[in-house]
Amino acid sequence: MATPYQVIARKWRPQTFDDVVGQDHVVRTLKNAIARNRIAHAYLLVGPRGTGKTSTARIFAKALNATGGPNASFDPLDPICADIAEGRCLDVIEFDAASNTQVDKVREFIIDTVAYAPAQARFKVYIIDEVHMLSAGSFNALLKTLEEPPAHVKFIFATTDPQKMPATVISRCQRFDLKPIPSELIVQRLKKIAVADKIKVSDAALASIARMADGGMRDAQSIFDQMISFCGTEVGEADVLDVYGLVAEGKIAALAAALAGADHKKIIELVDEADENGRDLFRLLVDLQTHVQTALLAAIAQGGTSERLGAPLTTEQLTRLLDGLHEGEHGVKHGLSQKINFEVALLKAVEASRARAIDSLIKEIATLAEGWPEGSKKND
Ligand SMILES: Nc1ncnc2c1ncn2[C@@H]1O[C@H](COP(=O)(O)OP(=O)(O)O)[C@@H](O)[C@H]1O
Ligand SMILES: [Mg+2]
Repeated sequence: MATPYQVIARKWRPQTFDDVVGQDHVVRTLKNAIARNRIAHAYLLVGPRGTGKTSTARIFAKALNATGGPNASFDPLDPICADIAEGRCLDVIEFDAASNTQVDKVREFIIDTVAYAPAQARFKVYIIDEVHMLSAGSFNALLKTLEEPPAHVKFIFATTDPQKMPATVISRCQRFDLKPIPSELIVQRLKKIAVADKIKVSDAALASIARMADGGMRDAQSIFDQMISFCGTEVGEADVLDVYGLVAEGKIAALAAALAGADHKKIIELVDEADENGRDLFRLLVDLQTHVQTALLAAIAQGGTSERLGAPLTTEQLTRLLDGLHEGEHGVKHGLSQKINFEVALLKAVEASRARAIDSLIKEIATLAEGWPEGSKKND
């Protein structure tokens, strides 16, 4: 029988610390904690979806329980680590808070079980996913256990939404913030997968997939999976752009340049073209924001202006352009005519970037006034 197909995101779940992409600060601190035997009893992993929270929690559970450990550089083939990876280890308990919010569930699966010694491993590790979903009563019930768990118990909480957690719980945990994964790293990872799975795919196609994924590795891998189902063993940039309604990188740059140069005609022309090709205009707005934001950061780094968009724009102008693009979001997403709202949003953003701030005008007038001949000064 053929081995059942496993989606990329599952097949490529990182199995060791060094396999985790783009979360170096988290990985380094956790590795050090294990090496120096300074292991807290509760950790909180915060971050957007698909950035490595569950993977990191399981890797940490393996490091804690590795044969002869705790050991940050454990062998993933170590039987206990393999059991944990396969979800077969009785002592690593994964609890999905989203589907078990009520206090009786928390009592049954967590509070009433912590006292029992681990069956097989060194530590009992409770991985509680989407922990912010627990009810207030559940959090309260957990507090005491969390304050002084038995020595053989470790908690790892994961959440996308820490604002919804009580401060009393957060303050009892060591908190780590996982970041959106930079596009280049997503592309690198997908490339590795492509080579292993013998898929032919261009860098530009991978870059477009990464752009869609907004820093989420799982999303990037799911999109890649879907593209492979659609295209077979050869995935091109045009396929990705067509399936997801993305505008090619070059066209986005051209539109950003038209904004920077206040070239109204070109703006309308490019928007028409995108619309006729069935591109997703909201996505285009977001991609434009990213371009302008990159230029803004460059301007700041270079002491005030950047020519990244083709014309020299000051940080102030870029900020106002970006602001204008953000203001257009609602209309483009919810308005009756997406295209008209999109055009209006772009033109307004251009106007905003060209408008002069009152305080800078006053300053300029004051400077000019200093050079005026005595008699011409009004107040004399
Ligand atoms: N930092 C990362 N490095 C490598 N792969 C990752 C990373 N984050 C997510 N993935 C991929 O996405 C899948 C889901 O990741 P997961 O750790 O469950 O994300 P989260 O819990 O943050 O939603 C993993 O199986 C893996 O394929
Ligand atoms: Mg998860």
